[in-house]
Amino acid sequence: MSAGAGFASQVLAAALEIASAQRPATPGAALGPFYKARAPANAQLRNAGDPGLPLVVSGQVLDVRGAPVPQASVEIWQADHIGKYDLEGYRYRARIVGDGVGSYSFESVMPGHYPGRVCQHVHYRVTAPGHKPLVTQLYFATDPIFEGDPARNYARDPVIGSVELVRPVMLKGDPAEIHADVRFDLVLETL
Ligand SMILES: [Fe+2]
Repeated sequence: MSAGAGFASQVLAAALEIASAQRPATPGAALGPFYKARAPANAQLRNAGDPGLPLVVSGQVLDVRGAPVPQASVEIWQADHIGKYDLEGYRYRARIVGDGVGSYSFESVMPGHYPGRVCQHVHYRVTAPGHKPLVTQLYFATDPIFEGDPARNYARDPVIGSVELVRPVMLKGDPAEIHADVRFDLVLETL
């Protein structure tokens, strides 16, 4: 191998190391009063005809080295489009198991605002063997409370400890079937 090729391979190795390098752990947030265990394993939370803006959330469960955490348990729960939690049953509640590379997704509706909380949000509880459980919340950059500038305004909800939890929202689909599309990766600390 020439000296030039050796240098190139070193640069490539360094780049790959950076690519799979440290990811900060996802900040935590309060569990809140509406958590219910034993939610169904159904990633299709939105039924046909449900009112509200359809929402698709996807992401990957990773560790702080950037490696996928396969088969993590991702529990999610949220209010419906007018800000009501189902306390009797399991509407808009699910326990999803990530796939072999830690990917997860679910279909729902954009949660509504409700009294006592400033921002729209989806609750998460993520567990995987060998990792610290993560309890957190997902927020939406389109929430009117942020007035288009979450970096400046995220603390208007005192529960939000980090702007990292406020995710961009893409509108996708045909004009007649628009849905909000959000990516939310979950980074777990190793035990
Ligand atoms: Fe909540």
